[in-house]
Amino acid sequence: MSEKFYITSPLYYVNDLPHIGSAYTTICCDCIARYKRLRKYDVCFLTGTDEHGQKIFKAAQAKNMLAQEHCDHISKKFEELWRLLNIHFDKFSRTTSKNHEKIVEDFFNRVYKNGDIYEANYEGLYCEACEDFKAEKDLLEGLICPIHKQKAQDYKEKNYFFALSKYQDKLVKYFDENPDFIQPSFRKNEVLGWIKEGLKDFPISRRSVSWGIPLPCDKTQTIYVWFDALVGYLSGLLNENEEVKLDTTLQNYWPCNVHIIGKDILRFHAVYWPCMLMSAQLPLPKKVFGHGFLTKDGEKMGKTTGNIIDPYELINEFGTDAVRFYFLREMCFGKDGDYTKESFINRVNSDLANNLGNLLNRTINLVHKNFNGIVENTNSNFLELKEKMEITIKEYENHMEKLELKEATDIVWQLIGNTNKAFNDKEPWKLIKNNDLTKAKYCLYETLEVLRNLSILIYPFIPETSLKIYYQLGLNTLDSNNEWDKLGFEKVNACFKVREASIIFPRLDTKSIKI
Ligand code: MSP
Repeated sequence: MSEKFYITSPLYYVNDLPHIGSAYTTICCDCIARYKRLRKYDVCFLTGTDEHGQKIFKAAQAKNMLAQEHCDHISKKFEELWRLLNIHFDKFSRTTSKNHEKIVEDFFNRVYKNGDIYEANYEGLYCEACEDFKAEKDLLEGLICPIHKQKAQDYKEKNYFFALSKYQDKLVKYFDENPDFIQPSFRKNEVLGWIKEGLKDFPISRRSVSWGIPLPCDKTQTIYVWFDALVGYLSGLLNENEEVKLDTTLQNYWPCNVHIIGKDILRFHAVYWPCMLMSAQLPLPKKVFGHGFLTKDGEKMGKTTGNIIDPYELINEFGTDAVRFYFLREMCFGKDGDYTKESFINRVNSDLANNLGNLLNRTINLVHKNFNGIVENTNSNFLELKEKMEITIKEYENHMEKLELKEATDIVWQLIGNTNKAFNDKEPWKLIKNNDLTKAKYCLYETLEVLRNLSILIYPFIPETSLKIYYQLGLNTLDSNNEWDKLGFEKVNACFKVREASIIFPRLDTKSIKI
């Protein structure tokens, strides 16, 4: 039995169409999930939508739609975009599904039985865009939320509270015992800072919000949207025809290996969620990874300012792999990163069209022109690329295991650079002209062998391109659940019979680009 690996993206709000932030998180998850599948893990990649709460209810009202109709419509849009981006997810969790409601009730009852829920008055401030309670000190002048630039509302209700404060010491102990729980490590200090300020109990029900799951112990209230949504990581694990019980979900892939989220929702995942699970006496996730935020041309993105990146436009203009590649290669996963059109075009032209595309094209063309498309290993002693490739594979693995996605591409593109250089230095076209065919063939064989390995290494990042390269190399299709073992020099073929060459990435022409 292969080892299980459970990875989640956040469950996205359906108040609006998916934006580039949600696309970014999901692309990163997909890259990690694909890498793990290559390595034969039994992967479950869960994504989905978070569909309750006032913000979503109002969005539906504004469109004159029933809340459920609105949620169904937008949730479909997320699924569609993930398909466009070649996101291979295994589960899609929706918080308005009947199964989810039942699992949330089970979860709530466990926390309730543990004595961690009590009734009290709440008075404070609430940001509807964050669906979060705010302290005045965390807001800008005029009580404006720094994340969404919206005014926080006064909030006064008699609610049911979760006794978060009870778990303060246990949470610190968990962090001590699991030093890698929060990644990247620089985010851990932020979380420890919040804990030091003292964890405060928070309401987990709303009297004034109707669009939510009724509170099992008092049907005049609904469950607070975050208490509901986080449980979606469990409920979404149910398979068809399985008994709808919390215990069933736990047997499937829980505990989660890594929750991938943006830094803005770190507190919910690194503080609330572990404490909720402790209270329900369930195992905790192994890791929470908080990535950075994207900006556009150095500015925060926002609909009101008009500087947004529309994922649909990007895909239409540049294609799926170019979009995936840009965000994975250009942004340092974990840190903030800036999008500019220039850097997008440069990345695609230099890394994909020139360095990778040309190497493939030149090699395959020479093989066709001079050797009828066939080159065998002539076993000379050109060992430098073999050695470089072995180092690359090791370093790649190291980086990928640490979720250093950009760094993994750095070393892959270093290898591509080295291979181009070796090709240019050896001048196989001259060797052919001088009738030094053994050497020429080995140079071509060696390059094809590097390309074969490269197509496996780039598969998690740009799967479509990877398969195209595999095809041109004359190989059977790459086995996305098992190809890792074929990494290494001379692992598979003593001979390549290549297919017709075709350009995998045409150069982007700045003038003809519309966006
Ligand atoms: N519904 C909650 C998550 C519940 S998980 C149980 C939520 N939804 S969201 O739709 O707002 O989430 C959006 C995701 O996109 C978050 O991970 C957030 O960090 C990410 N991003 C939103 N804007 C972003 C950028 N500008 N840049 C990068 N990611 C950003 O939160």
